[in-house]
Amino acid sequence: MQELARRLRTAHSVFVLTGAGMSAESGLPTFRGVDGYWQKHRVEELASPQGFARDPKTVWRWYNERIHAYKRAEPNAGHRALTELEEPVPEMTIATQNVDSLHARAGSKNILELHGHLREARCTGCAATVPLDNGLDENQIEHECGGRFRPQVVWFGEALPRHVWRKAEDAAARADVILVIGTSAQVYPAAALALQNDRAYIAEINPDATGLSAHCHCVIREPAAVALPALVKTLQSQYR
Ligand code: APR
Repeated sequence: MQELARRLRTAHSVFVLTGAGMSAESGLPTFRGVDGYWQKHRVEELASPQGFARDPKTVWRWYNERIHAYKRAEPNAGHRALTELEEPVPEMTIATQNVDSLHARAGSKNILELHGHLREARCTGCAATVPLDNGLDENQIEHECGGRFRPQVVWFGEALPRHVWRKAEDAAARADVILVIGTSAQVYPAAALALQNDRAYIAEINPDATGLSAHCHCVIREPAAVALPALVKTLQSQYR
């Protein structure tokens, strides 16, 4: 922790890659954890264009549940600590795989949503968008143009938003320190962002080991909402 804080204190550019574990202490399930979404549901049915084409109502029922859960959730101490870490660092980019908007609600500034978000739906026909304040009703799925409204998220087999991906690649390549928080690093290309530059000091914050652990200079086996506030404290104590 001392070494990581020292690196952050001297860093010009910091890149943060986050996953579902970042929001676990906000009461939101992860995907592959014990009570994770993929333990209860089939990926191909709920998070693929094919699944949506087959049964859009079931897909929307699941996303509506998630939208309501995200609205009830609050950013946790980990999200808030990242906004504090932003202060002393000249440049910090948060590239998140999460679609829960909790980094933005915590006040973080420079966020890249690699897998999209759930603030609006987009028509597959004419690209019209509608806000998703309270989800989408079943009778709103079919659009007058003949298309269907789908969530603005990236499904398996789909490309990430190009401009977001480019910015993430550039930010990761510029970074002096890379923080990998709450991701199992099983989904690509997002996981590859942590391995973009050999110069960076890479630190993982995750109670469990992941596919990236062996590439990290530092691993902190603690929950994000415990480790990140402790990191901010350590950083502040080094400035005194
Ligand atoms: N703090 C930090 N890490 C945690 C915590 C916590 N409190 N709780 C769990 N974790 C870790 C787990 O150990 C695991 O390594 O978070 C990770 C969550 O992994 P996944 O469930 O696989 O989620 P993620 O890596 O974000 O999934 C990537 O897969 O299903 C798709 O699109 C979906 O964006 C998602 C992508």
